[in-house]
Amino acid sequence: MTLKVSVIGTGYLGATHAACIASLGFSVIGLDLDSEKIALLKQGKVPFYEPELEELLAAEIKSGRLSFTTSFNDLADADIHFICVGTPQQENSLAADMRFVDSALEAIAPVAKAGSLIVGKSTVPVGTAQRLSARLTEINPAVELAWNPEFLREGFAVEDTLRPNRLVVGVTSDAAEAKLKELYKSNLDTNTPWVRADLPTAELVKVAANSFLATKISFINAMAEICEAAGGDVTVLAKAIGYDPRIGSRFLQAGIGFGGGCLPKDIRAFMARAGELGAEQALEFLREIDSINLRARQRVIELVRKDLTEDLTGKKIAVLGAAFKPDSDDVRDSPALDIAAQIHAAGAIVTIHDPKAIRPAQKRFPALKYAESVDECVAGADLVLHLTEWKIYREIDPVELKKLVTNAIMIDGRNALDRDKWIAAGWKFRALGRASN
Ligand code: UDX
Repeated sequence: MTLKVSVIGTGYLGATHAACIASLGFSVIGLDLDSEKIALLKQGKVPFYEPELEELLAAEIKSGRLSFTTSFNDLADADIHFICVGTPQQENSLAADMRFVDSALEAIAPVAKAGSLIVGKSTVPVGTAQRLSARLTEINPAVELAWNPEFLREGFAVEDTLRPNRLVVGVTSDAAEAKLKELYKSNLDTNTPWVRADLPTAELVKVAANSFLATKISFINAMAEICEAAGGDVTVLAKAIGYDPRIGSRFLQAGIGFGGGCLPKDIRAFMARAGELGAEQALEFLREIDSINLRARQRVIELVRKDLTEDLTGKKIAVLGAAFKPDSDDVRDSPALDIAAQIHAAGAIVTIHDPKAIRPAQKRFPALKYAESVDECVAGADLVLHLTEWKIYREIDPVELKKLVTNAIMIDGRNALDRDKWIAAGWKFRALGRASN
């Protein structure tokens, strides 16, 4: 008998997990309380942009292996229930908002069948699994809890879910581990590293990994500040240190820093949790990582002021990119959109282009102007900002673009454009951590 699986929460994580697990041959039911989202998913449509996902999801619905519901009762006969709901930052603190995780557990625990396994995938403060496990024993002692953190990157969600670079399971029994091994058999057959851990370690692996990644990015952005002060070039520096395999070249792209629904809120929630545990000093450095990251946004705005005037009132500024990174339409804590909004608040007339994220950006900042094409975005601009490194922006012909703008000034906030080409085309070219012409 193949396992039946339920997935609670159908955001980036849940929708991808549901479709991928179904594609392995399991019967999967996805649940969300948002009935509009479920109506879309039932038609094989994904409510956000994620490469490959819509095709996979539609195929799995067609195969009959994947279905969706808004009712917890429909999940009763699943063998494994994955909790994939969000844990956003609380409005008035650094800590994570646990409402959705807690209510998912409360709703699934009474209907889950005896012998089934509830598996948390959401990123949570360490200690959550033990707390939920105790609560589960009160509600339904015939069901066990495990934790299986997810490391998928947006833009590569399907690839990362189907071919993860490791699987981490926090379990309290051999039976729970065996059930998860059955589910992930295809990964084990291809030698994906398997790490069995206790519940707190499994929770910590996720936030530790994200803290390390955030630290790497802020490290190189701190080096960018030093390069600016000393007249160096951070892109050359990153390349040179990256050849050392102990350092590695990935996640050393200097620029306007990290954003999105994970890294910023995860390092803040980690600090908050460390404080609760009486270990806040251990994570004090993350405060600095956060401030280096936010400072990168201000440094770009300073460059804009330096090139135009201190008073930005009425200046026409074109912004290329709104998503927090390319190949995503996610604008949660997007550095690009934050910079655009701040420049707008300073009086500039800001027009934004993004290949996929215009709609979500418009929802968040309706007062900004949005353009459907790069040409429309830059028409008559006093300055152009490149803030999300979509491939189409690297393919822009600077000679042609120059004909459309008022001032040929490009600030590359991602260190992703070919500087020599832009300078040769007659642009003033600025970037974080590199000399200007
Ligand atoms: C991240 C983790 O990578 C993933 O493992 C975890 O499951 C969720 O959080 P994601 O938020 O999709 O994934 O994006 P990621 O690719 O990590 O990029 C995060 C941010 O860092 C983006 O804003 C990106 O532009 C920025 N970044 C990344 C840099 O500024 N420089 C880099 O070198 C790399």
